[in-house]
Amino acid sequence: MAEPDLFSTVNARAPQARILELRALIRHHNQLYYLNAAPEISDADYDALYRDLEILEAKHPEFHDPNSPTLRVGGAPIKGFQQIQHTVPMLSIDDVFELSPESLAKTGAARPELELIAFYQKLQKNLKRDEVTVTVEPKIDGVAVSLLYRGGKLVSAATRGDGQTGDDVTHNVRTIRSVPLDWHGAGGTIPSVLEIRGEIFMPNAAFAALNAERDDAGLPSFANPRNAAAGTLKQLDPGIVAKRPLAFLAHGLGAYDGEVLETEHHFHALLERLRIPHNQPLLTVATPEELLEAVATIKHLRTELDYATDGAVIKVLDRADRVRLGCTTRAPRWAAAYKFLPEQKETCLKAISIQVGRTGVLTPVAELTPVLISGSVVSRATLHNQDEIDRKKIQVGATVLVEKAGEIIPSIVKVTQVAPGVPVFSIFSQVGGKCPSCSGPISQEEGFVAWRCTNFQCPAQAVTRIYHFASRKALDLDGVGEVVADALVRHGHCATPLDLFGLTEMVLANLNLGSDDAPRRFGEKNAAKVLAALASAHSKPLWRWLYAMGIRQVGESAAKELSRLHRTLTDLSESPILAELLRDTRVDAKKKNDFLSPYGITGDVGPAVAQAVTAFFGSGAGRLVLARLLELGIDPESGDYRPMVTVGDRSSLPLSGKTFVITGTLSLDRDAMKAFIESNGGKVSGSVSAKTSYVLAGDGGGSKRASAEKIGVPVIDEAGLAALLRGN
Ligand code: IVH
Repeated sequence: MAEPDLFSTVNARAPQARILELRALIRHHNQLYYLNAAPEISDADYDALYRDLEILEAKHPEFHDPNSPTLRVGGAPIKGFQQIQHTVPMLSIDDVFELSPESLAKTGAARPELELIAFYQKLQKNLKRDEVTVTVEPKIDGVAVSLLYRGGKLVSAATRGDGQTGDDVTHNVRTIRSVPLDWHGAGGTIPSVLEIRGEIFMPNAAFAALNAERDDAGLPSFANPRNAAAGTLKQLDPGIVAKRPLAFLAHGLGAYDGEVLETEHHFHALLERLRIPHNQPLLTVATPEELLEAVATIKHLRTELDYATDGAVIKVLDRADRVRLGCTTRAPRWAAAYKFLPEQKETCLKAISIQVGRTGVLTPVAELTPVLISGSVVSRATLHNQDEIDRKKIQVGATVLVEKAGEIIPSIVKVTQVAPGVPVFSIFSQVGGKCPSCSGPISQEEGFVAWRCTNFQCPAQAVTRIYHFASRKALDLDGVGEVVADALVRHGHCATPLDLFGLTEMVLANLNLGSDDAPRRFGEKNAAKVLAALASAHSKPLWRWLYAMGIRQVGESAAKELSRLHRTLTDLSESPILAELLRDTRVDAKKKNDFLSPYGITGDVGPAVAQAVTAFFGSGAGRLVLARLLELGIDPESGDYRPMVTVGDRSSLPLSGKTFVITGTLSLDRDAMKAFIESNGGKVSGSVSAKTSYVLAGDGGGSKRASAEKIGVPVIDEAGLAALLRGN
């Protein structure tokens, strides 16, 4: 029990003593809460201690300590990751696999643990004795990190990287509450250097909660807890990391200077004394039979663990034996990871529902008769796309084999019993060719397997569409980013981008960008800025509006070309040019060029663009957009209407007919360089292909340069560009 006076806000004692006392107290309660899961004080009492410390630290910056518990919320964002060289390389472990029934039948092997037994026999042979004691523990499916403590303080944390050097993630690891920042209060002698290897992971329950929250906010969800942990650790802003529930468990030792550790048990006892969370249970066995039993125990137990596991790790207990066995360049000879076969169950696929994601992708989800797999009930599994459905010949009513692998996201392995007479499922027929969320048109782009809703007003895509609409290259609505778009949709003020034009200053100013618990007002100043941006959007050129509408196939270049060929949006919506282009290509592909030439249409507007634009304005959704714009008194004008530019005119420019890909750091920024090239008749595209004439490369720019070299596209620098402009 804590003494009552420790909670008082008024304290006359010397500030330094009180600061140290509060830090010790908070550390103590953190440990009880995060490590032992046995808190002794209420959350409110804890918060009071924490606030007292924050106030005192703010008043007395002279007592700053980077390891203060208040700094767990994360410091300032960093610009990029520094590299840290590991003092002792971070090796991997060799895998041995549990054999599937099929491979048992094929090889005639006696039992699934064959490879594990062979590993144990190799240990016996190499150590030249029968009895070899090994430990068995769960294999954590997380992100490997190395924590370095010197003089009892955490000095750095690094990811594995290539095993020799990794990313410095100290700023992020500091926010993980179960990782001690120092060893205050640890008894006995403490090592002067201790490098701890372990896994950072996101507990299953926290993972599920995070994904649910992201779903609600319209953000993409993480595929599995490992990805969630890895994605979080890669954040440059530790403030974000502090809000995500990461955890850490130690399982190995790197550099070390301290009392001799004879066995794995001594190592775990040291971790316990230093209050460093360590992997458990740690089973100890000395015969092949016991080993098989221990592995079966872990396999059974893993369904109860709060983190994802895909196997058991077996290690030689005695550290002197480990030295005798040594390592290959890749992995130690004294350890193995036994990989469990993913648990699979058969169940009935009752139905397939179609979800519309925030970018309009239609995702088929299998609705299953609930079945218990690896400790949790599975009732749904994503089918990804039509290709996967076709490949696996998925039918409604079929019996399917479902697995959860090491991850907690279930997937369908195959159909085990077909539903007689039922056709393979078709996403398109299921939704009748319309978006199930808004009945807008759907399309499947060339080269992509996904069906997508192309409706600008689709409510399922509201957040993405609004912030694209407001982005710099679109209508440049300063102040409307992802957070604001999200809040506008969440609070019901906008369902489509055009709803922005109905916003009032009061609604905007009072918009809550935070949560109910921690509200954050958008404010009058920002509101005024957004309203001004919206007012000036009325007169923005047609191409920006076209690009802002996010019509498939209409990127910046196509939008500019379309707006060169049309006077207004209304003209474009009834475009004879596009109609002709479509009709013409249907009749005769060659004739297309005869038709195109009077307009000097560049490759930016081809049949695919014509098709997409025509489909958009021909759809109910497209007509609705036109009607809304009419109501708002907006009919964007081209500002660059030059429909009859001849091929001759364009080709007189020095870079005409040439397509560039820009990469690396140049003397002009990307947009300015693009504008410069375009003003000289050239085109700029985002990726290197056979159609690329030149890659213009500055410093850096590795991957595009490499692709260019691979397919034989010349790479030039700015001097090379200057030569082209001179006509050399
Ligand atoms: S011991 C020399 N124990 O799995 C490496 N590793 O696939 C000794 N891992 O590199 C590592 N759980 O990052 C060990 N209980 C555990 C583990 C574990 C997960 C990771 C570790 C290792 C990787 C190999």
